[in-house]
Amino acid sequence: MSASEEAEGAAAEAPRYAWIRRMLHWAVALFVLLQLPTGYVIAGYEKDTVEAVDATFGKGAFNVLYDLHKSMGLTVLGLMVLRVVAKAGAPNPDYRPPIKAWERTASHAVHVALYGLLIVTPIVGWVGVSLYPAPAPFYFLVDLRLPIGEARGPSEFLLGNVHGPLAILIGILAAVHVLAALKHRLLNRDRVWERMIPPGDAADQAGSASRSR
Ligand code: HEM
Ligand code: HEM
Repeated sequence: MSASEEAEGAAAEAPRYAWIRRMLHWAVALFVLLQLPTGYVIAGYEKDTVEAVDATFGKGAFNVLYDLHKSMGLTVLGLMVLRVVAKAGAPNPDYRPPIKAWERTASHAVHVALYGLLIVTPIVGWVGVSLYPAPAPFYFLVDLRLPIGEARGPSEFLLGNVHGPLAILIGILAAVHVLAALKHRLLNRDRVWERMIPPGDAADQAGSASRSR
């Protein structure tokens, strides 16, 4: 057996998250990576920032970015609802080989915290925008503003004092999470990484998803 066949075989044996869960994981990861920088740009809505963004990307670019941030945030919320349903239908795979008990506890805690934050943070943004009251456009197609009246003070509090800090927490936990994934990949070489590799690779075609827990 060649080295590449051997590697393929090893990946095929590694228990993985169900295809749908891996797809949702990478879709949410991509959107979150876009949400953090776009959020910081739109939160600096002083004249200078607006002018700088418009000068770089063209007139009206700041407003497009603002609407995209809201649209992508609502997309994260929708994907997270699907993720909760997918998790209920397709439980986590076993760790093979097993990982240390503390690693299991720590990773479980980070995963649960990320699920919670990825649901609460967009809801806070959505409610904050709706109370302002400002539109909650979904990809320029439809305004999903919640019909909850106007309350400028609470809106500013939610957007300025709650939404931002929660998003920072997402960034911190995501960074810890990615470092942990790299540790498993580069130092432990224990196939934790393979549990979440994107769908569509060779081992997938071989049909591997073994799940038990
Ligand atoms: C997981 C989803 C989301 C993430 C990670 C995220 C992240 C962020 C970040 C990092 C900021 C900058 C905060 C600051 O510097 O004060 C921000 C600002 C903002 N976000 Fe989000 N956001 C998400 C979803 C949403 C949604 C769904 C909406 C509304 C529909 C929204 C509306 C806003 C608004 C209006 C601001 C500007 C707040 C201000 O002017 O102070 N976000 N977001
Ligand atoms: C390059 C970036 C990333 C890599 C390499 C990565 C890798 C992984 C790996 C290997 C697992 C399986 C861990 C295990 O089962 O113990 C996993 C699970 C998970 N990841 Fe990531 N991840 C990345 C980005 C993100 C981001 C940005 C988020 C959220 C903001 C995230 C949230 C999660 C969650 C919640 C799980 C638990 C499994 C689930 O229920 O979907 N990941 N990730």
